Amino acid sequence: MAEQTRMEGTANPTGVVWLVGASTGIGRALALRLAAAGWCVAVTSRSRDKLEALAAEASGSGRIQAFPGDVTDDAGLKGLVEDIEAQLGAVDMAILNQGDYEPMGLEAFDPALFRRIVEINYLGVVNGLAAIMPPMIQRGRGRILVTASLAGYRGLPRAAPYSASKAAVINLAESLQPELAQKGVSLRLINPGFVKTPMTDKNQFKMPFLIETDAAVDAIMKGLDRKGFEISFPRPFAIIMKTLRLLPYGLFLWLTLRMVKADEGEN
Ligand SMILES: NC(=O)c1ccc[n+]([C@@H]2O[C@H](COP(=O)([O-])OP(=O)(O)OC[C@H]3O[C@@H](n4cnc5c(N)ncnc54)[C@H](OP(=O)(O)O)[C@@H]3O)[C@@H](O)[C@H]2O)c1
Repeated sequence: MAEQTRMEGTANPTGVVWLVGASTGIGRALALRLAAAGWCVAVTSRSRDKLEALAAEASGSGRIQAFPGDVTDDAGLKGLVEDIEAQLGAVDMAILNQGDYEPMGLEAFDPALFRRIVEINYLGVVNGLAAIMPPMIQRGRGRILVTASLAGYRGLPRAAPYSASKAAVINLAESLQPELAQKGVSLRLINPGFVKTPMTDKNQFKMPFLIETDAAVDAIMKGLDRKGFEISFPRPFAIIMKTLRLLPYGLFLWLTLRMVKADEGEN
């Protein structure tokens, strides 16, 4: 029962969280916030130096520890989770947040870019799940969150590799959630809209409902304390994108054609 209480909220946590994609952007800010809230945070990404700088920023508390790794290395990730559990104890919550993005118009259609983005955004989540699900299932408890995007709701112009990879993550989470729930492990989705991070700094267009990283972390922290499958934000943009998801193809494709024409007009 004490264990149950500890797992359900973030207000007074004492557990271990494995946060992947923590060197920059949303993940970095989330790591600091979770540490401040009392979690022991194992942070993973490819950049050891950035993770060590992050751990140093939370120094004194010792609450952030660097475990560098690459999500495209499935065997490496399994070993990484074993190391985390050996050093910090059982992982109570895993947040698979890593991501890669590159806009791509038709003129630059490139299978290599699709492969790169799918390897990180989709298969990277698969590899993370393969590493963290077995110990959680064995214990009969645990929480897993995967970061997709509101851009995964429907195919969006000039974003095919990214949009498709995030649609795959959403679909994957829907597929796995019921079976995992049966095993005592919760699986949830984080679907952000536009957030100001190194990922979106490369966008040339005006991003609707763009929010700062801190606002994104506020929404995630609130979502962690609530129930429900999906944490989506910012709310107005999430509502628009959910409405878009309901539109019939004729209307949806008419709208996206207008987006393409407007984009061509600007360039
Ligand atoms: N920013 C937005 O507007 C927005 C909107 C919707 C969804 N999202 C999603 O939110 C998540 C965080 O994005 P962000 O905006 O914070 O982007 P970001 O600042 O670019 O962060 C991406 C993170 O993923 C890590 N990463 C990339 N490839 C990796 C790999 N092969 N192995 C391990 N880690 C890897 C990066 O670290 P290293 O380079 O050190 O490996 C970095 O820590 C992503 O899943 C993104 O798709 C973002």
